[in-house]
Amino acid sequence: MASNNQTTGKQNYHIGYKEDTLKAFELRNVTTCLGYLVPTLEALPPTFTLLDVGCGPGSITFDLARRFPQAKIIGVDLGQEVIERNNANIPLHAPGTGIEFRAGNILEPESLFSAEEIGSGFDVVHEHTTLICIPNNIEVLRKMKQLAKKDGGIVACREGDTHSQLLWPPCPESAELQERIYEMNGLDTQTGRKLLSKALEVGFRRDQITASASVLSNITAEERLPYAGSMITMLADENSQYRRATAKFGYTEAQIEVLRKNMERMIEADDGWRLLICTEVICKLDGDS
Ligand SMILES: C[S@@+](CC[C@H](N)C(=O)[O-])C[C@H]1O[C@@H](n2cnc3c(N)ncnc32)[C@H](O)[C@@H]1O
Repeated sequence: MASNNQTTGKQNYHIGYKEDTLKAFELRNVTTCLGYLVPTLEALPPTFTLLDVGCGPGSITFDLARRFPQAKIIGVDLGQEVIERNNANIPLHAPGTGIEFRAGNILEPESLFSAEEIGSGFDVVHEHTTLICIPNNIEVLRKMKQLAKKDGGIVACREGDTHSQLLWPPCPESAELQERIYEMNGLDTQTGRKLLSKALEVGFRRDQITASASVLSNITAEERLPYAGSMITMLADENSQYRRATAKFGYTEAQIEVLRKNMERMIEADDGWRLLICTEVICKLDGDS
């Protein structure tokens, strides 16, 4: 197996790994994000193996390990620094469980897994809003299918779609900038709505797929603050992709100030919320495809 300590390949992640951003992602857990998958996991033998692709700061991964302490759970991510942070947090967030984190590019599985792990495959290969962050993400889904056990393995995805986002107070400037940044990075902003067709495209039969949808939300003040706060931090950081995109697209200082104010309103507004439709698929291999 190649070193786990290298971030390989030429991939790049446009959101970045600043502490504020990680804190916003850390609102996510099994209850808020994986309702669609829990009954399937509960039906597996308790020692199942699960791969969390693009685990980020790992709040979902840690929560899975706490709920299924006998399972072998591996979170993988392109970000070396986020993986080091996660490994350091294991004694705090999921002591005594079978969790581990590895850094690398999912498109280069041999950089992440031993030949034995690749050969035997995982019971569950899961991702949460990772596909939308990777160009040509059909290849990621194809790899996920290859990494699942040929007979009985499960590929589970929950994906967003930037066009399905509702913000109040309205922030059209923020929505527009986000859209342009995703497009600038060659990302498929409609990944959510195409999830089922992507699953079919990589070779799952429709009768192997269970599809559903739910909403990812930032509603309470505690949920709005990390989301909008991380956007404000990115706008203030001259090196962030968000800030660099404002320069690339010729935003004036006044326009950047509007963006910042929008996010401040989102934090302060008692009637504020952010809602994003997420699509979900559970694809079960049966040895036939
Ligand atoms: C939007 S975040 C989602 C994090 C986590 N799944 C969650 O929902 O909280 C997407 C993650 O995918 C990771 N990622 C992007 N490209 C990747 C690749 N080629 N291989 C592995 N991870 C990747 C990023 O580093 C980032 O942490």
